[in-house]
Amino acid sequence: MRETTPSRTAAWVAACRSYGAALPDEARLIDDPYGLPFATGSGMPGVAPPAAAVRLPTPLRSWVLYMQVRTRVLDDVLLDFVAGGGRQVVLLGAGYDARALRFAGELVGARVFEVDHPATQGHKRRVLARRRLDDRAAAVRFVTWDFEARPMHELAGALAAAGHDAAAPTLTIWEGVTMYLTEDAIDASVRAVRGWSSPRSQLAITYVTRDAIERPSLPVRATRVLLRGAGEPWRFGWDPGALPGWLASRGFDLHRDATIAAEAARLLPARYARGVGTLGQRYALAQMTESIAVAGA
Ligand SMILES: C[S@@+](CC[C@H](N)C(=O)[O-])C[C@H]1O[C@@H](n2cnc3c(N)ncnc32)[C@H](O)[C@@H]1O
Repeated sequence: MRETTPSRTAAWVAACRSYGAALPDEARLIDDPYGLPFATGSGMPGVAPPAAAVRLPTPLRSWVLYMQVRTRVLDDVLLDFVAGGGRQVVLLGAGYDARALRFAGELVGARVFEVDHPATQGHKRRVLARRRLDDRAAAVRFVTWDFEARPMHELAGALAAAGHDAAAPTLTIWEGVTMYLTEDAIDASVRAVRGWSSPRSQLAITYVTRDAIERPSLPVRATRVLLRGAGEPWRFGWDPGALPGWLASRGFDLHRDATIAAEAARLLPARYARGVGTLGQRYALAQMTESIAVAGA
């Protein structure tokens, strides 16, 4: 991403979450009234408040439905983690993620750490303050970090300084970020996450397939042209077949790995699910490998 410009893709996905309000009830999986103000004036084409009762044009509607599904599957992971007693959440590349506001009730007593590039996080904090939401986001501890420029192994120390307890389970959510990073930053990031993950910690990731990067379909190519123009090109994808071994060698057991298209088919009526998540988008949930912790203890 560009050094001094808040992430435009963060603005876009936040707006798409809010545009969910324009979908019919049967296609609504999440509600995020907070996203649009972060995006307004972001310079991303097409980001403007939707007119009341607007019928979303088809390409926008596909993105809005995609964000409904992507957000919902990770919301469910978060709620399961909290229901199981988890009290620490790290949002890596948090952008304008509003989970700390959307789940303020469920997250009472929990610590939410939002880690992001200084340009994006600075914009987020200014908007929160302007909208007098900073009090309601009080559970959030903000940590700025450039994943490409700063050593990832030092991030655990920065989180600890912000109040993170590496002895307690942590859910790390890495939503909509991996595709924008280099392979080196990805590797260093997962090793860093492992460093702050105690037993029963989890890592939830969204990613695109290596195929989408190396053999892009026409729609993927068109998307990538737009993203390059926004200064945030797709750079990295995993091969789903290799992911379990890749994660295992970094101390995580893969528990779930699904296409967003399959999740859309599970969660949405068929006529809305069609065409959602067709750009090679997937999500994965991994758990910290406890045997390695025992062996290394
Ligand atoms: C598409 S947005 C996703 C934001 C958020 N997770 C969501 O789903 O709404 C990508 C995020 O990755 C962050 N990001 C990209 N490259 C980064 C880097 N090198 N260092 C820190 N953050 C970065 C951006 O600032 C942005 O918030």
